[in-house]
Amino acid sequence: MNRVYIKTYGCQMNERDSEQVAVDLRNRGYSIVPHEDEADIVLLNTCSVRDQAEQKAIGKAGHLAVRKRKDPNFVLGILGCMAQNRGSELLDRLPDLDLVAGTQKFHRVPDHLDNLIASMNGQGPRPSSIIDLEEEAGSQNTINAHKPGERQVSAFVSIMQGCNMKCTFCIVPKTRGPERARPIDDIVAEVEELVANGTREVTLLGQIVSSYGRREIPFADKKSPFVQLLERLNAVEGLERIRFTSPHPRGFKDDLVQAYGELSKLCEYVHLPVQSGSDSILKAMNRPYTSGRYMELINDLRAVQPDIHISTDIIVGFPGESEEDFQLTCDLFKEAAFDMAFIFKYSPRSGTPAAELEDNVPQSVKDDRNQVLLRLLEQQSLRRNNSLVGTVQEILVEGPARKGEGMYMGRTRGFRKVIFPGSERLVGELVPVRIDESSVTTLKGQLEIVGVA
Ligand code: 5AD
Repeated sequence: MNRVYIKTYGCQMNERDSEQVAVDLRNRGYSIVPHEDEADIVLLNTCSVRDQAEQKAIGKAGHLAVRKRKDPNFVLGILGCMAQNRGSELLDRLPDLDLVAGTQKFHRVPDHLDNLIASMNGQGPRPSSIIDLEEEAGSQNTINAHKPGERQVSAFVSIMQGCNMKCTFCIVPKTRGPERARPIDDIVAEVEELVANGTREVTLLGQIVSSYGRREIPFADKKSPFVQLLERLNAVEGLERIRFTSPHPRGFKDDLVQAYGELSKLCEYVHLPVQSGSDSILKAMNRPYTSGRYMELINDLRAVQPDIHISTDIIVGFPGESEEDFQLTCDLFKEAAFDMAFIFKYSPRSGTPAAELEDNVPQSVKDDRNQVLLRLLEQQSLRRNNSLVGTVQEILVEGPARKGEGMYMGRTRGFRKVIFPGSERLVGELVPVRIDESSVTTLKGQLEIVGVA
């Protein structure tokens, strides 16, 4: 009765939350299984950012509810953003759900499962569904543990929760609540422990990491709390690489730009969502910057780190987006020379300001614009990858590649995936790899034997 399968939808934050739920459940005597068929309990950790993400999880839950009707002891739960967004309304749609737990309640999941199971075993009243969605002070501090003894070469570290921005398209302020930061010392302690277990790279997670600690932690030496955190982590011995996702262009100030020049472990990679290249669309999105300011920021970053790899998020088909607006996005896309991008078709989210506007860009136009940007991305990504052929890159070896006997996978500091013939003892090591082949998504190469003089 205690085998749990957790399925995660959406962003890295959700993946990290699921890791935490898995650790908490293991500590409570549950086991985590890799397939739903082996599980007595299935938890869906969900995403609400677009309708498609919600529909996927609802479809899955509907499917699992059929199993529940055959086996009343099977437990089905929905966690995270869609739980928070839709709340008890989910039960109208899915009356067989046992548990609906919001984004501030991940740490309560073991208690809820214990209670559900105890009452199913006849030790209490027949369970009704548990719905737990309240705000909880300090819940940001509960996403802090990793599976003990298990090595993660690259690990996610959640540094904050919530979002205070008011982008008109976005449901996240509703699903994640207002910004709340974890203390710097706690984050540093978590990273030190990870490193003691073999972690070499951390990716700091938050909805808007550039706002980290703005209310809790004072500036020091003209440096924002986020840059103070980066400095502390840069000093952690044994840690080799630091990444983060995502900053907001507005909060990306000069101290953070300069950090790319000063902190040796901060990788030459940034994911900096622009959303649109049209100033009038940016305004309608309530993104408080212009395309000009965004390009200035990119150029400042390139002045400090000429080889920096830049990734972004773009929404096509926001209400009122004209052909000219879209053309401005294409122009910016080329000028910024993005190496990576996530391109989304606008999806109205009920309760957001933009949902009051008419969703007036036809689906076919959204599809076309999406395709145009995807093609541009392919060209730019391939061009960048081709430029790395013949160079020697520092690779952090993460593990065996999915395909190919004796092939291993790692990433460059710029986050490009590299496949090369290697061995198990290289896992977790930084190795030089000479790149000899490239495609849109992957580089291939050979270990560079470093001669000893
Ligand atoms: N429709 C489409 N894409 C969206 N995103 C956020 N909200 C929406 C929406 N309503 C995209 C943004 C954001 C990314 C995580 O998801 O580009 O940066």
